[in-house]
Amino acid sequence: MADSKTSTSTDHGSVLVVDDDLIECRSLSEFLKLDGYQVDSATSGQEALDKLRQSSFDILLADVNMPEVTGFDLLHEVNKNCPDTAVILITGYGQIEGAVRAIKEGAYDYITKPLIDDGVKMVIDRALGQQQLKKENVELKKQLGLLGGEGELIGRDHKMRKLVELIDAVADSRATVMLTGESGVGKTLGARAIHSRSPRKDARFVEVSCGSLPESLLESELFGHAKGAFTGAVADRKGKFEVAHGGTVFLDEIGDAPLSMQIKLLRVIQDNVFERVGDTETIRADVRLIVATNKHLEEEVEAGRFREDLFYRIKVVTLEIPPLRERLGDLKRLAEYFLDKYVAENDREITGISEAALQVMQAHDWPGNVRELENVIERAVILSQTSEIQPRDLPFDASGGAEPPPEETWQGLGDPSVVLPLKESLAKPEKEILRRALHGDGWSRARAAEALDINRSTLFKKMKRHGLERPPEDVAMDADE
Ligand SMILES: Nc1ncnc2c1ncn2[C@@H]1O[C@H](COP(=O)(O)OP(=O)(O)O)[C@@H](O)[C@H]1O
Ligand SMILES: [Mg+2]
Repeated sequence: MADSKTSTSTDHGSVLVVDDDLIECRSLSEFLKLDGYQVDSATSGQEALDKLRQSSFDILLADVNMPEVTGFDLLHEVNKNCPDTAVILITGYGQIEGAVRAIKEGAYDYITKPLIDDGVKMVIDRALGQQQLKKENVELKKQLGLLGGEGELIGRDHKMRKLVELIDAVADSRATVMLTGESGVGKTLGARAIHSRSPRKDARFVEVSCGSLPESLLESELFGHAKGAFTGAVADRKGKFEVAHGGTVFLDEIGDAPLSMQIKLLRVIQDNVFERVGDTETIRADVRLIVATNKHLEEEVEAGRFREDLFYRIKVVTLEIPPLRERLGDLKRLAEYFLDKYVAENDREITGISEAALQVMQAHDWPGNVRELENVIERAVILSQTSEIQPRDLPFDASGGAEPPPEETWQGLGDPSVVLPLKESLAKPEKEILRRALHGDGWSRARAAEALDINRSTLFKKMKRHGLERPPEDVAMDADE
């Protein structure tokens, strides 16, 4: 899907100028401003770090020689957290080692003092030009569907298409979104996708797992605290809601949030305000909240562990991500996507996944969903001795056996050398038999049940277990494989 939103900066691009020499910093900033760039400046490395965390810049133009936080420290920060910012370092005259190191460590370019205005401009424009090209390239690839980049959800199953449509539909608003689904289905990825398609995409996406911290720490993590609020609070500290100002806060496992915090969350959602722990000053929160849960929150509400008012507030926009076993049509595509990823990461020469291995995977139940699939593929890439992933590279294969002669492979049963638990082995042919019965009879469940000589509720249960549903369009999902 094409992401048509582009950067809001002017044609000239935004530049953060950093130099601890006040005069130098100001004159360079003024010059660039007059020339039409959007300029912000900082006179210390620390100030620059804060600015980099608050907003995004196309270019960071920083002096290398600064006390405490140096130009190189800023370069490292950008490398880690701001992939769209190009760094140009300013080195002293004759400091050739610094210049070499700058390029080695990932700076776009360096310039040496004394600065010559037109020289500076030229380097900046070149960097901007290259960034533009990179952006266009990414955009093009996205349009061609070649990219499974950060925040991109792979999947063409109709349930996933629907989900992606919904994500697009809600991305623009500030509405709180709740993502539900089993562990590993892609809730965190979905939250990132919403953020990266929203007008807030240039500000921060901050993730907090409500289940991972004790109550007191969690509150301070989210809302911050005042100095002296509790033992160990030696200074004022910003919470995630402040850090994410203008961006998105993703609260994972919201069902684990303690009741005391739920009140505060409700207030943030309703009135956009909160206070730091141990402080009375009210702070305005410009954040979009996305929450996720793998619990049934209704049950939590009934049990008195989750506030009903908060529940109704967050459930307005609920996106449910189906388990992998209900969208096995996407399994191959996902598996190949992870294969590419881990082949590149591990520098291996594996070209594909064998038909037999795919069949074994199709028959698996995937309780850990996409995360489990990703782990299985990563492991297989590391273990594989051949150019294709084989069943023996998969953790479901107990035999560790040899390559089966293909003619002995009963179609649909997979590798004959692989002995799986009976229930698992039967799942695949059973699914195929059900599918044939349903398909052959125009998806009439009554007639299929009759033909199979089972009662209808058994058929419904089995269909559900196998994720069998009538395809939404006449074109079968396989058509776009
Ligand atoms: N549709 C998808 N396309 C590509 N990768 C996916 C997809 N769904 C999940 N993943 C990957 O699977 C892993 C688990 O997903 P995650 O979002 O962390 O699941 P959850 O938050 O529901 O537990 C992550 O590495 C994620 O990138
Ligand atoms: Mg998650």
